[in-house]
Amino acid sequence: MANTILVGAQWGDEGKGKIIDVLAERSDLIVRTAGGNNAGHTVFIGPKKFVLHLVPSGILWPDKRCVIGNGVVIDPLSLVEEIAMLEAAGVTVAGKLFVSETAHLVLPYHRLLDEQRELRKGKHKIGTTKRGIGPAYGDKAARVGLRMVDLINPPRFEALLRQRLAENNQVLKAFGAKPLSFAKVHAAYRAAGDRLQPFVTSTVVLLHEATQRGAAVLFEGAQGTFLDIDHGTYPFVTSSNTTAGGACTGSGVPPNRMDRVVGVMKAYTTRVGEGPFPTENAEIADLLHGMGREFGATTGRPRRCGWADSVVTRHATMVNGIDTLAVTNVDGLDTLETLKICIGYRRGTETLSHVPCDLEVLAACEPVYAEFPGWRTPTDGIREWKKLPAKCRAYLRALAELSNAKLGIVSVGPARDQTIHL
Ligand code: GDP
Ligand code: IMO
Ligand code: MG
Repeated sequence: MANTILVGAQWGDEGKGKIIDVLAERSDLIVRTAGGNNAGHTVFIGPKKFVLHLVPSGILWPDKRCVIGNGVVIDPLSLVEEIAMLEAAGVTVAGKLFVSETAHLVLPYHRLLDEQRELRKGKHKIGTTKRGIGPAYGDKAARVGLRMVDLINPPRFEALLRQRLAENNQVLKAFGAKPLSFAKVHAAYRAAGDRLQPFVTSTVVLLHEATQRGAAVLFEGAQGTFLDIDHGTYPFVTSSNTTAGGACTGSGVPPNRMDRVVGVMKAYTTRVGEGPFPTENAEIADLLHGMGREFGATTGRPRRCGWADSVVTRHATMVNGIDTLAVTNVDGLDTLETLKICIGYRRGTETLSHVPCDLEVLAACEPVYAEFPGWRTPTDGIREWKKLPAKCRAYLRALAELSNAKLGIVSVGPARDQTIHL
């Protein structure tokens, strides 16, 4: 398989983990390039459920190499815990996982600052995962971050941590929060550094050599297009570039090495956290939550749910260059009598066909819907496109056409084999 960038086309949780696991079979390397342990990617191997936060979902294949690229922010304690979880489940990690030496660290003061900033925002909060992601990327941009290469250099780590902790403790005190103990943080993170040291390498060189030899690389996106710091519904976004360009900057693999972009979307829409969501719908939320679905993989929060929105997914095609669309969770809509797809946003007498960047304008928009008859029959046992109900095929064709991309994969259940390739 050619070098493929996989992105989320909505607000995250599109089912990227499942599709990565499926596409990994034909890839040699799987690379995470942005975000941190705010991500939660669910993969089922038979009845066993794995939720991956930092380690690429390809790790569950015995013969694939996985890379955590320079664009990711790593909480070392969380990564150590995830590796332990995988090893306890019988998954080999040593020799298969490579961690960028230039990836930035998430440290305890980032988590505390994330929490404090959210508290201060009150009802205007973003609804972050409180994993310290925003403050860690903030330090990276402000050039005061610590990197993996610092973590594994004990004297340098000690000096840098001492300096950074002193400054951040002042900020925490100003927030009215308890300052952190240098000795405790240092001991815990140095231990994690020793554990992670064997995984740390120049992943840029590793990826360059692999692509030179013709290896097929799959770039595992995290979050979704509308959580992108530049292209999302700012400020209700995460702090990294979650769109296709982030795969290049977050890995050091140049754009002319990339062959295609796969966009993953749910057959409906979900969003966790605050921020605009034009097609949000309480009935769909009740239906899906009633089925025990749509609870956050990282924080367990119930996800907000709504109709599919082709203004959103068309915009995602525009900014990511999506060639192939993978539509997941089609089976979630099996019982509905009528389905809706948003085809435009009405604002006064105008109909917008792109997502406006001004959130006040977006809030004033009314979705315009096209209606589709429901297929009202289970799809989770179907494995061929032709065997899907005709009404389901019509709905999926419309989704792809309205999203300006070619339908390539349909997912009708969380398992590997519940996948239809077109
Ligand atoms: P990600 O963050 O994009 O990897 O998505 P999450 O793992 O956070 O959330 C997607 C959820 O949908 C997970 O619970 C998956 O197991 C589940 N899932 C993915 N595809 C399908 C599907 O086609 N049908 C059903 N029923 N569940 C799916
Ligand atoms: P995956 O990779 C869904 C959301 C949070 C919040 C906003 C900012 O599983 O799709 P942050 O902690 O990043 O500062 O939070 O972004 N968010 C996600 N929502 N899926 C994710 O990842 C998310 N990662 C962050 O809920 O609204
Ligand atoms: Mg998720």
